[in-house]
Amino acid sequence: MKAKKSVSRRQFLATAAAATAPMILPQGVLAINGRPGANDRIVTGHIGVGGQGRGLLNPFRENAGMLCDVDSNQVGNAMKMLGRELPTAKDFREVLDRNDIDAVVIAAPDHWHGIMSVWACEAGKDVYCEKPASRTIEEGQKMIKAVRRYGRIMQIGSQGRSTPAAQAAFNYIQNGMLGEIKRIDCWHVENWTGGDPNKTSTPPAELDWDLWLGPQRWVPYNEDRVHFNFRWMLDYGDGFIRDRGAHVFSVMNWVMGLDLKAPYRVSATGQAPTQGLWDVPITFDATFEYKNPDLLVTWSQPGERAGDHDFGAVYHGTKDTLIIRGGDGGTYTEDKAMQYVPPTDGKHARVSPGHQRDFLDAVKSRKDPIMTIEAGHRVATQCNLAAISYKIGRPVEWDIEKELFVGDAEANALISNPGRGPWHI
Ligand SMILES: NC(=O)c1ccc[n+]([C@@H]2O[C@H](COP(=O)([O-])OP(=O)(O)OC[C@H]3O[C@@H](n4cnc5c(N)ncnc54)[C@H](O)[C@@H]3O)[C@@H](O)[C@H]2O)c1
Repeated sequence: MKAKKSVSRRQFLATAAAATAPMILPQGVLAINGRPGANDRIVTGHIGVGGQGRGLLNPFRENAGMLCDVDSNQVGNAMKMLGRELPTAKDFREVLDRNDIDAVVIAAPDHWHGIMSVWACEAGKDVYCEKPASRTIEEGQKMIKAVRRYGRIMQIGSQGRSTPAAQAAFNYIQNGMLGEIKRIDCWHVENWTGGDPNKTSTPPAELDWDLWLGPQRWVPYNEDRVHFNFRWMLDYGDGFIRDRGAHVFSVMNWVMGLDLKAPYRVSATGQAPTQGLWDVPITFDATFEYKNPDLLVTWSQPGERAGDHDFGAVYHGTKDTLIIRGGDGGTYTEDKAMQYVPPTDGKHARVSPGHQRDFLDAVKSRKDPIMTIEAGHRVATQCNLAAISYKIGRPVEWDIEKELFVGDAEANALISNPGRGPWHI
């Protein structure tokens, strides 16, 4: 069912239609060499084809039907990598408006995930959206509403839970091999520092800078802000707590059965940089307290490494401990869990055929994928609670049901983003 489009999209399309010739796709353009357009092929539109977006063209190689990026060089590189001609756009609303695109793959920076996902659902598309699900807590709430209201499929790109190691850890933990788990300690290397505030310049011709910024406050172009570097600024990323927290906490919530839970108290501190453009804290320490089950989760940058990996987590149980290194595509756990065979009547992890394949299967079956928007929203919330506690400089209490901070107007003001121009959901 095609849903009603938002007013701002409609306004855009009216103007765009007047300004540009319609893009009519010749028959066969979407077909792969030797495999002309099977009827059941899901056609994907790729929004944001930088580092991760280009990587995702591999698993979606046979599905890709359109490439979109505000930087035409990125589109050119992606097309070269893919090795075939596809329709392209700078403005993602052109992707949403096409009837020949079934699903979108969003790998633009975090500050775009909420708007693009909600508008894609409104346009009747299914969505594979990169992690973290959203930049703000309110955006995540709206993504859930849009997915359920319009009956869409959405997979959040925290692919760790689709790995054999996470599945082994799930079986080991869920069948009680660690006993009761009261504490999980996560470690991660420090955030990056640097960026040159004096590199401000006119944006390069290939880049639509205003459209890169979108809902974020306008600032002059600086090459140290864009392409990968957005992670190191509080306006776009929040450093590794969201970038990799979205992986570590996704695995954690899944193996612990906490997908729909949230901490009730969070406290975070960090050491702010004294120079450079990038303003995320260099070190970052956070604690998350849970009730029912009682659990303390700590996140420490740099923290104590429990293995040869930049990040990971140690699960402390009453009977044993388990280390899970990584949490993204590279997720590893100990042999004792890898070799563990759960009893037939025990708990068994859902086995994913691979995170992107799992999404495509869900699009066909119309059943939820492994990393739903509800789970993704809780993970992003967890990351955001810590980032907000750091920004306001005190611990925060979180009302899990209302999804509001308790008695803290300053913290509640950071749940949403004021937006800019037409960029609101
Ligand atoms: N799942 C994973 O393992 C994984 C790994 C890396 C990145 N990511 C996620 O992918 C996202 C992108 O990260 P990246 O490292 O690839 O960043 P990147 O800067 O390399 O790529 C982002 C691309 O999006 C484009 N873009 C920005 N605004 C746009 C808009 N309005 N419309 C279309 N394109 C737009 C940029 O020009 C850029 O090419 C982030 O949310 C990140 O957290 C996930």
